[in-house]
Amino acid sequence: MSDNTGGSIDNVMQESRLFPPSDAFLEGCKINSMEAYQQLYDQAAADPVKFWGDLAREELHWFEDFDTTLEWNEPYAEWFVGGKTNVSYNCLDRNLEANGDKTAIIWEGEPGDIRTFTYKELHSEVSRLANAFKKAGVEAGDVVSIYMPMVPELAFAMLACARIGAVHSVIFAGFSAESIADRNNDASAKVQLTADGGFRRGKILALKEIVDEALEKSPTVETCIVLNRTGSDVSMKDGRDIWWHELLESVDDNCPAEPLDSESPLFILYTSGSTGKPKGIKHTAAGYNLYAKKTFEWVFDIRDDDIYWCTADCGWITGHSYIVYGPLSAGATCVMFEGAPNYPAEDRFWDLVEKHKITILYTAPTAIRAFIKWGDEHVEKHDLSSLRLLGTVGEGINPEAWMWYHEKIGGERCPIVDTWWQTETGGIMMSPLPGAVPTKPGSCTKPLPGILPAILDETGEAVGENQGGMLVMTHPWPGMLRGIWGDDQRYKEQYWSKFPGSYLAGDNARCDEDGYYWIMGRIDDVINVSGHRLSTIEVESALVSHPQVAEAAAVGRKDDIKGQAVAVFVTLVDAEASDDMKQELKLHVRKEIGALAQPDDIRFTNALPKTRSGKIMRRLLRDIAEGKEAVGDTTTLEDYSVLAQLRANDE
Ligand code: PRX
Repeated sequence: MSDNTGGSIDNVMQESRLFPPSDAFLEGCKINSMEAYQQLYDQAAADPVKFWGDLAREELHWFEDFDTTLEWNEPYAEWFVGGKTNVSYNCLDRNLEANGDKTAIIWEGEPGDIRTFTYKELHSEVSRLANAFKKAGVEAGDVVSIYMPMVPELAFAMLACARIGAVHSVIFAGFSAESIADRNNDASAKVQLTADGGFRRGKILALKEIVDEALEKSPTVETCIVLNRTGSDVSMKDGRDIWWHELLESVDDNCPAEPLDSESPLFILYTSGSTGKPKGIKHTAAGYNLYAKKTFEWVFDIRDDDIYWCTADCGWITGHSYIVYGPLSAGATCVMFEGAPNYPAEDRFWDLVEKHKITILYTAPTAIRAFIKWGDEHVEKHDLSSLRLLGTVGEGINPEAWMWYHEKIGGERCPIVDTWWQTETGGIMMSPLPGAVPTKPGSCTKPLPGILPAILDETGEAVGENQGGMLVMTHPWPGMLRGIWGDDQRYKEQYWSKFPGSYLAGDNARCDEDGYYWIMGRIDDVINVSGHRLSTIEVESALVSHPQVAEAAAVGRKDDIKGQAVAVFVTLVDAEASDDMKQELKLHVRKEIGALAQPDDIRFTNALPKTRSGKIMRRLLRDIAEGKEAVGDTTTLEDYSVLAQLRANDE
């Protein structure tokens, strides 16, 4: 093992399994060999600007052609300058001729109600809503705040904003009134969209009540448009609130898409930084649209008869790029689901896959770990033979969870695309192209065409093969964020100041001897034991490879001798939480990756503190491991009772 010079990170994970795509998968695959991928990648890397410029002309509709592909005044990028396009046009109008009668959205509500929309119907719904927005006074450049359940109207609203040049800010419908008000004020939102309620595990979430409280503190919001989803009684404030269906009365569905500048803002999406207030990540029309579309087509090898399901919520970037904008601009059929994976029972996802004959499933490692814990019987009840491709996003997937997904869900025939990207990147940056790049469990494999990653040490030097360091991008790409809403300084500092010329992703990674990338966790989460820098993901993966471990989180805590000690939090499948089990797990990690990574403290817990999008909040765990009160922003915590439980179990 190396010492800690230059800030590189030790690689202790050994994973050598390799899974090439099957012949059956390859049939009909567009990019179907490593050579084909490499050729495309090399061509793009030789001249990324030309590559993206050519693609933009082929893939998007232009009311007016652009004259400059990229204007790059670091850290500000403008793509396709001088062009005029419209994202809603690219998703809808452009599909009418060839795909007008094709199903665009199959939606299933939590109670089991199903609605489907063809591209023609979607075009009409979105056009009517766009006219209704105009009637309500929404103009190009206005910010529309959206706090809604996962109903089709949420997607209509995003597309209707895009159609008239309004900027949407979708806020996941689990956030508090305080969080909504903060976001509304930061963005100076003018209109609020919500519903009378949303279904969640058989209960009704009182969304309108939460919005009422938020709007008390959101002085810029003039109008609130309320969808009738649950039929709950809600109070409507005179002069401010209006029912969605009433607003739609007597508007027609003729609403031509507005020709908009390539760089006109499309949306703001707030993401919580590890500390401080949420950042409003800004994305703009043309570059984002092109990037969402092409990455969707490449990574999911999309075919005309695919039924594609991304289980994310539109409140996250995954929902923006891979439920709405990517799939629709590619003319795909997507499933959209309102409910939870375990309601009314733990087989709900598999029930959907069987019922809708889903061919591509894109979900999160946190869900996969929950399915493992709930037991295989829920999966085995269903016929999942329609599936041909699986994907993951949001966190690293531990190799053992990958293997379970591969065997139990994919029947060993479906490639798994482990997609690495961020709210900031707009779309997938690194992922296997499933017909071209053999997969390794736990690796997001290779960069997509047009993406140029590097891994640097503290001094900005590239680290060697299999050495961990900081992941950066050395060239702009069309899907990149255009800034943090109203905070240029933070944008510059956070992403562009550490290594001039390179975008700092904030993650650590290593690249192996085959050019495969392995994400090692957030930069701030590295554990430094006796001068050896360990990646959280590697320690966690070693724990999860024990048959009794469902989920694990590793953090560093202060240690007088070693600098930091390894503290881990473990959820067991069904074994008893005992001292013997602790001992067994310590030895297991020692055997898997070495004495250095052997946990010093092990705490068993029924659940880990997670953000509302399912990411483990290691910052809170660090506080608990150090015996401190949790400090900082906890508004993104999904379940507050978890913290109390963890404290009660404290060593
Ligand atoms: O740390 C990485 C992790 O999630 C971060 C981005 O989070 P967010 O902006 O919420 O976007 C999530 C959906 C794209 C990254 O910096 N992450 C995301 N995907 C992966 C991942 N870590 C490892 N492997 C992945 N596939």
